[in-house]
Order: sequence, then structure tokens, then C-alpha cells
Amino acid sequence: MCGIVAYVGPKDAAPILLEGLQRLEYRGYDSAGVVVSSKGLKVRKVKGRVADLAKAVPARFKGTLGIGHTRWATHGVPSDENAHPHLSADERIAVVHNGIIENATELRAKLEADGVVFKSETDTETLAHMIARTVEETSSLEEAVRKALKSVVGTYGIAVIDAERPGEVVVARNGSPIVLGIGEKEMFAASDVAALVRYTRQVVHLEDGELAVLKADGFHTFASGGLETAKEPLTVDVEAGHYDTGGYEHYLLKEISEQPETVARTLRGRLDDRFHIAHLGGLNMDARATRSFRRVKIIGCGSAYYSGQIGAQLIEELARIPADAEPASEFRYRNPVVDPDTLYVAISQSGETYDTLAAVQELKRKGGRVIGIVNAVGSAIAREVDGGIYLHAGPEVSVASTKAFTSTAVAFALLALHFGRVHDLSPADGRRIVDGLAKLPDQIEEILKQGDRIRELARKYATHPSLMFVGRVRGYPVAREGAQKLKEISYIHAEAYPASELKHGPLALIGPEMPTVAVVPDDELLDKNLTTLGEIRTRGGNVLMIGHREPEAKLADDVIVVPKNEIELDPILLTIPLQLLAYHAAVALERDVDKPRNLAKSVTVE
Ligand code: G6P
Repeated sequence: MCGIVAYVGPKDAAPILLEGLQRLEYRGYDSAGVVVSSKGLKVRKVKGRVADLAKAVPARFKGTLGIGHTRWATHGVPSDENAHPHLSADERIAVVHNGIIENATELRAKLEADGVVFKSETDTETLAHMIARTVEETSSLEEAVRKALKSVVGTYGIAVIDAERPGEVVVARNGSPIVLGIGEKEMFAASDVAALVRYTRQVVHLEDGELAVLKADGFHTFASGGLETAKEPLTVDVEAGHYDTGGYEHYLLKEISEQPETVARTLRGRLDDRFHIAHLGGLNMDARATRSFRRVKIIGCGSAYYSGQIGAQLIEELARIPADAEPASEFRYRNPVVDPDTLYVAISQSGETYDTLAAVQELKRKGGRVIGIVNAVGSAIAREVDGGIYLHAGPEVSVASTKAFTSTAVAFALLALHFGRVHDLSPADGRRIVDGLAKLPDQIEEILKQGDRIRELARKYATHPSLMFVGRVRGYPVAREGAQKLKEISYIHAEAYPASELKHGPLALIGPEMPTVAVVPDDELLDKNLTTLGEIRTRGGNVLMIGHREPEAKLADDVIVVPKNEIELDPILLTIPLQLLAYHAAVALERDVDKPRNLAKSVTVE
């Protein structure tokens, strides 16, 4: 959470910092601030969005070096005072920070006992004061920062400037990402390449424990002990246009609409018509290693976890290997037994969700074999795992995940096909899945054509304060993801339940005031699902059914029919109408679709 950006070079820093912050707003957007250096530090910070900050920055806010921040509050409410940057009492040092200083209370008490007066409630302000205390005794800002960080327990990505050294920025990373951008006689740093691609494609990712000094003419990186590290710049293949709304009203609608193309990209070059297998070179696993594990354990957070549930079912069905998914945030705290016969799969769109990363690190420490399904190339999780599958879905900007969700499910179908064909999945079944996967992009296109109708349905159902979502076996993770999408962007309460469990409790909630969205694929459980619909309607509940055909009896008030694929792959298609339903409900209720309240896209704190 929180986005940070830094610039040093010949140009005016403020417009570059503001533009960068706008690109990072998905990381947090409750307050924002910038500081530039020119004969002293000039600071502006406000509660609100980057657009509010831009209005508050005066025309004469000149300086060719500066740092900026967009915040997702952890320590202290969103307010002008708690917004970053934070300055030392003498206004010499300014700091922006992403992460959490866990021993902030203790550090703050020590500083206060020494007479330091704090202006904010944040953990970050302690850093500004600590650096200011050592900067005079040390020969460089870099050394002062390193010394201050020695007392810090927690995670950080930070950028620091010193009014007395107007030509350099110091950045450091431990658990929260920092990427350096190398320009022509100018240097940038940010939490994500999104803030850099307008200016440069040459980047360097800092590792945990690393620190860098940026000057207009270049950079130096150092390990935590102070020894210089050698870093090779990478060229990122993302274009600035990938971060635009492309003419759509919202990023979310753009990303939903992109799915025929993004699913095609996840599949590209990976389907083999001859042996009916999947080519997944990035797994770094030969056939013998692929046969050697007996279980698959999938971990991820939020929508990544729900796509993992779809993945677990695909692996069980196609490869007959026991598989299950668990929230990474739960897994890492329960001292998990790490089994040598289990393959662990970590899922993350951003590749930087802290709970997922920490779970991967715990697994690796215990000798577990971990692969990743990740969208962001070169991200922390991608670098930590032993191999994996990149989604190639392109940048996902809207906070609610859509195209990364479907691409993850597709990546799991490829993985399940791969495992299945090494085990007992027949060539005929392999062909069935290969052909089914190849059909997905066109079928998604078909579903998207129903957008207008789904908008009408969304307007109708968005008038209710609460919705039940049900699904059975393959349909259950789809229902969970559908409920998640609705609540996160429309703020309508939604609860997802296995259809089979409805009668064991939540049926008591059903009545005219609470409609049900039912995921009803045309599979071997169709009759069971239709019975559930009957039970709901008998209790006066309205039903919106997502399925493959109108039920014969009048068991649903409304039906969204999606094209049929293979039963194992149907969950991927059944998800799409639920994304559109949530989107149009959020628009009807005039919500901030791309930046829902209280949330952030990259949760880089525990
Ligand atoms: C946050 C986002 C969710 C996302 C989850 C996992 O909670 O709001 O939309 O699913 O993080 O993110 P990841 O980048 O690890 O897939």
C-alpha cells in the first residue's frame, strides 16, 4: 500500500512527481503529498486524492529534486498532518514511506523523551527525526539513512531527501517494492514501474535490504552492510498507454472488456495440438519432478484465493491430484506443516502482496517447493519462487481484479492439463481441454455483448441492500468471486454460500428483500441446483440465475445465459457476467468504481 515516487534531474520535479503519483493511486488514495528541494524544502500535502494535491500545488513550486507519496492509512487517520512527506523538526530531512514500522511506538517514546515534538500520528515521522539526528555526525545522507534503519523493525520502501544536499535522493527497500528508473541525465524511483514508463523503460529492482543513492548522472546501490552491489538494468516491455483508460469510462470496464485478448495472451504459445498438452517452460520442472509430488496446495489473497479454488478443482479433476486452496494470510500464521510431497502454488496479480510473499518465504525456509502464478513480471513473488507461469494479462489498474482473475483460472487449466497429461489424463481428454481453452476468447466476446442487458439487471438488483450468491462445487468459487466483486465496488452486502449448505442456516435470510444470484452450470449437478432454486423461490426469494440455459420450470426471475464450454472450464466463463453485474451496480449507485473506499490494490502490509 502507499505509492512513492522520486525524481532528480534537470527538470521541474513537481509535475513529474504528480504524474507518477496519479499512476500509483491504485496503491492507496486517502491522502497525498510532495516535497521539492530548492534553497530549502517546499512541501504540499492534503487529505484526498492526487488531483486535490495537484490543485494545492502552486505554480511557483520549483525544484529539480523531489519525492512524493499517495497514502493508504495504517498509523493515524487520513488527514493533512498524517499525509507524507514527513519532515524533521528543523525541516532539513523529508521522508516518504510505504510499509509499517512495527516498533514505531517504542521509537517514538524514545524520541519524545529526548524532547522531539511530533506533528503527526504516523510511524514514518520517527524516521525523519532519526535521520535528522545522525545526518550531522555522518559523512553522507546514505549513511544516516542506513544508521536510522538499523533501529527499525518492520517493512519499508522509503525515499529521503536532505535540504543540505539538493542533488541526491536516497531510497531503501525492505519488504515494500522500490524500482529505479534510469533516464538521460535524470533518475527516478517509484513503488512500481507504472510511475516510470512515461519517462524511461530502463529499470532496476532493489532487493530487500538494499539502499540506493540517486543523482542526476546515475545511481549506486548498496547492500545493508554498506558494500556496493552491481545491478544490471532491465528493459520493461510495458507501454505508457497500457496504463490509460483507452476511451472507457473506467479502468474496470476496460479490463473486463480486454478479457478476450488477455485470456488469449495467457494461452499464447502454450497449447500443443499434437500431444494435447500444455507447454509451461517457466515451471522449471521435468516430467519426473512433475510426477513426484502427491498434493498441491494453493495460496493467495482476495480474488487470487478464489481463483485458486477454481484451480484446485481443475487440478483434482484433470490430474486427480488432491489439491486445495487457502488464504495466504491464514496459511502463514498457522505454522503450516511443509510436506516434501506437496507442490505449493502462490498466486498474485501484483506479485507483491505481503501475506502471499511472506507465506512463500516461510515455505522456502522450510524447504518447500513453490511455483508462482503471477502477472507482474519481475515482481517480488515472481523472483522468490522456483518457477511459474506468467499471466501476460498486462497491467491491471482498477483495484478490483477482473482480467487477472480469469487469466489465473486459465493458467490453472494449463497447469492441470500439464499435470494431467503426465499422469492419467487421456489424449482424448487432453484434446477436449485444449480445444475448450482455445474457444474461450470468442466465448468471452459473446458474453460481453450482453453488457446492456446485464446493466439493466444490475440496476434492478442494486436496489436491494443485500444479496445472496450460491454455487455448488465448480460454481461455488464463482459465486464467492461474484459476491466479492459486488461488495468491494458497489458496497452492497453480498454473501456467498455453497448452494448445498443454504438449507443448513442461511435459508432463514431468504425472502422478498434478499434476492439470490445463483451460478448454475449445465453439469452433473444441474438438478441439485435447480432444487435449491425451488427452495429459494418457495420462500419468496427472487433469483437471478447465471447458467447455460433457461430452466424448464419457472425457477428464476431472470437468467443470464453464457456459452457452454467443457464442464471443467465453464467456471471461467460464468465469472464474466458477475463482473459486469458488479460493475454496473457500482455505476448505478455512483460509486468510485476504480478506487473503492478503504481498499488498495497492492496490500503490501500484513
Ligand atoms: C487486494 C486487492 C484484491 C486482490 C488481492 C490480492 O486485496 O484489493 O483485488 O485480489 O489484494 O492481490 P494480488 O496482487 O496478490 O493478486
